[in-house]
Formats: sequence, C-alpha cells, structure tokens
Amino acid sequence: MGLSPRERLIRWLGSEASFAAWEAEASEGLSALAPASQERVRAALAEALAAVDEGAPVSTTSGEVSLRWAHEGCWLREEDEEPYLYPEPEVLGAALEGELRARLLPAASEGLAALTQGAAELAQAWELAQAPLAARTGRERERLARHDAPPEAARRALLISLDRVPAPLRAAALACEAQRARWRELELEVDPELAASDASKLPLDTRLHPEAWVADLRAALGDAQPAGVLVVGDNARALRWLRARYAGQVQCAYLDPPFNTQSRAFAYRDARPRADWLCFMDERLALSRELLREDGTLYAHIDQHEKERLRLLLDRHLHYVAEVIWRIGWVSGFKTRAKKFIRNHDTIYQYGKRPQPFFSKRYLPYPEGYVRRDGKPPTGKGIPLEDTWNCSSADRLDSIQIMSFSREKVGRGDLTQKNENLLARMLEASSREGDWVLDPFLGSGTTAATALKLGRRWLGCERSPELVDEVILPRLQRVLAGERYGISRETGWEGGGLCEVAWLAL
Ligand SMILES: C[S@@+](CC[C@H](N)C(=O)[O-])C[C@H]1O[C@@H](n2cnc3c(N)ncnc32)[C@H](O)[C@@H]1O
Repeated sequence: MGLSPRERLIRWLGSEASFAAWEAEASEGLSALAPASQERVRAALAEALAAVDEGAPVSTTSGEVSLRWAHEGCWLREEDEEPYLYPEPEVLGAALEGELRARLLPAASEGLAALTQGAAELAQAWELAQAPLAARTGRERERLARHDAPPEAARRALLISLDRVPAPLRAAALACEAQRARWRELELEVDPELAASDASKLPLDTRLHPEAWVADLRAALGDAQPAGVLVVGDNARALRWLRARYAGQVQCAYLDPPFNTQSRAFAYRDARPRADWLCFMDERLALSRELLREDGTLYAHIDQHEKERLRLLLDRHLHYVAEVIWRIGWVSGFKTRAKKFIRNHDTIYQYGKRPQPFFSKRYLPYPEGYVRRDGKPPTGKGIPLEDTWNCSSADRLDSIQIMSFSREKVGRGDLTQKNENLLARMLEASSREGDWVLDPFLGSGTTAATALKLGRRWLGCERSPELVDEVILPRLQRVLAGERYGISRETGWEGGGLCEVAWLAL
C-alpha cells in the first residue's frame, strides 16, 4: 500500500529490468496515439494497475465484477452468495481485461478521431496492456496451481430405497419418526406389510437416521456403487471433486447453464458481464471435458443471448458434431405481442471429445398411413431424427414450461426446468445402459431423474443448498419411490436405487 504507480508496476512485473522493457514498449505504442488519447491511456492504465494491487478490489465500471485478493493468493468474487475461488489465472486475466477494457474504451473512442481511427487507437492501447497482463497471469498460474486440488466433502448422505437396505436394518429404519414425517411431507404411502418385505421402494434419507444405524448401513452396503452422485457446491469445485473420482468415465454430459439473459427473474444468478460469463463457462467446459470418456459427448443448451460466443468456447475444447434447434412449442398470450418474429426455440450444441463420438441413431415411429415418396409402405426402423426437434406433427416434444398442468413440473417457475423426454433423447442417443452421465448445472434434477429411469448412472452438481433441499432431494426421493410422471410410463420405471449426496466444505 502507498506505492506509486511506477513502484506498483515494478512489483507487478517482477523486476526493474522487465519494467524498463515494458516502459519502452509502452512508450513506443503510446507515441503513436493522438496526444489527448495518450494522456487518457496513461491515466487509465495507472488507475487500473493500481486497482489490481494486492488487497485492492477490482471492479468494472458497471460494478458487476468485484474480485478481492484474499489469503494465500486466492481471488474471491465478492458478489457471489458464497465465497468463490477462481483457481484459473485465465479467469483473473479476463476479469482484468474487462477492467482495462472498460477504462480504455472511453480513452480510445473519445476525441475528434473518426470511428475507425478510434478503433485503431483502441487496438493499440489494448496491445499496451497485454504485456503486464501476461506477466501477471503467468505468475498467477504458478501461484494458483495448487488450488486445483480437489476440495473436501464436509458432509455426506445416502438416499436409498428400502429394498436396497439389508433386511436386518429395515425395522429400525421404518420406526424412525423423522423419516416417517418426511414420507408424509412427500405424500408417500407407508404400507407396513409391504415396507417390511423386499419389494418396497420407499426412499430413506440417511440424514434423518441415527449415526450408528447409518454406520451399520454403510458397512453392510460395502462397496456397492451408487446409481447417482450429487455434489452440492459451486461446480468449479464440484467438478474437481468428481474429477478425482470419475475422470475419463462420463459417456454423456448435458450442460444447461444460466443463459446470461441479464434477467433477475430466476432462482439463480443470470446477469453477468459478458467476459465474466465466458470465463465462467470456459472453466466449466474444460473440467467437464476432463470427465468425459474418449468417445463421450457433451450437449450444451443455450439461447440467443450467448449462443455464438458459447460455440466459440466449445470449439476450443471439443469437436463440433451438430446444432439442434429445439422448438419450444406453441406460442400464446403475452409472447405473441412482440413486434418481431416470435422467439420459439433454444439451441442445443452437440460436441464430441473426438470428432465422431459414440452415437446410437434415434428414429421416430412412422405416423399412421405413412408412405414413402414412391407410394410404398416404409420398411425402415422409423424416421431418423433430424436436428430440428418438435418441429413436425410426427415429433412432439413441447417444453413443459408451456404446459399449465404438467405433473412433471416441480412447481418452481424460476428454475427453467427442462423435460425428461428432452433429456431422454440426448441420453439415449449418446449413452448406453449403465453408463455415467453428467450434469454440472443440475437445477431441478431433470438429468438425474431421467438417467435413473433410463438405467444410466448420473453425476450432478448444484451450487444452491436450498434448491437441493427443497427441490432436488424431494424429487429424487419421489423418483426412487417409483413416481409415475415424466418418462416413467414409457420406460416402465418402478423405482428403487441408491444415490449419494456430498456437500463440499467451504
Ligand atoms: C438453467 S438451470 C438448470 C435447469 C435444469 N436443466 C432443470 O431441468 O431443472 C441452471 C442451474 O445451475 C445452477 N448453477 C448456476 N451456477 C452454478 C455453479 N457455478 N455451480 C453449480 N450450479 C450452478 C443454478 O443454481 C441452476 O439451478
């Protein structure tokens, strides 16, 4: 603290010599600018560099990104609900980029210069800022490498259906009053005779049972593998936790992130500065890729707000396979009033870890009376699925969001819950029974529910503990109990299973 901008720069760059080199480079670039801009650029740089000094907050002019230098070289985002460690130097670099851009842009675009000249000046000024940024992020990379280690789980629990609980432990489980109260909340019927048999699918939550009973249960289960694992915490950390256990094992990943709509109407944060959102996604994509098998597929669900930019990011990590247009369904009411073509689709990108990932081709049944173009009856397996979904009468896949009375809905309009039949289409095309599927943005738990009903195993991350308690765990318990909604009927789902939940230590 109390250092001059020059001293700060020297500290930032690491030595007097690198400062001299930077200064020479910077003056050369600066002298090419118009004098008024030179002054502004100088001031903007000094101000921006001062702001990134240790201990000082870094904020964009909009005040949306605010990083704080914390202990042991960690940068914390202050506006997140929980402190969030950004372990990747690129994230920091990009936040600083946003910072510098916000200050340099006015410098370059002001004055008498025509638009094009302003742009050229911005480019030059921007170049000036690159060298110190590179030095800074290089050192961050080394310093933060150690934060790549997987975090610890603070608490763990099992959801398990009674039929999977060894018989000698069932009577005590059934007698547990807290568990019975939970079943009443979930409106699950407890038939004592059935419950004592081997057939009951009533779901237990081990958090409600005495520790000694849980220890006996864990011992009796031995190394029985769960059909699903939910990690509660920010997915940058949750994916690291999963990576330590499941790297290279996931056959299919589905990412349905906040679309960055700038709307405050959702249960999750959906208004970030663009550079920030891209950094956020870049890190999650890199981690998700590490979990994928070599022939694995990643689907990324998005809308018009960040679609093209997400695609550029995806291209950095994986191989493009297809772009699916999912027509949301019929439009009515308020939506139809827009004075433009009515928005009625989302985009789902399909990417492979290699150019041709595993793919099980899907077909729609021939509609009644269907004939080939030559007038003969069809002989194939059905109509092969195209990359436009829900766009014909043969292909019905309306979003549950537009159905007022879908029993599949978890009752939270602020969650942008997707349909189980939409997920089923992707999981069936890109995984086999028994495969692991991943959803780093689990939301209401659609991927988990669909995976269970399709005989896949699932890994999920969700940062909001409230959402986990209020929506995901009750939904999973109803699924384990054999609920009849979503794709239950088509898949002949009868319930039963074992899932694990891990809450990450902060
Ligand atoms: C669009 S919703 C997913 C909806 C989900 N596909 C469904 O069908 O219910 C995005 C979810 O990602 C969660 N989320 C956002 N940022 C996250 C993060 N950094 N780590 C983990 N979860 C996150 C939000 O809390 C929200 O529940």
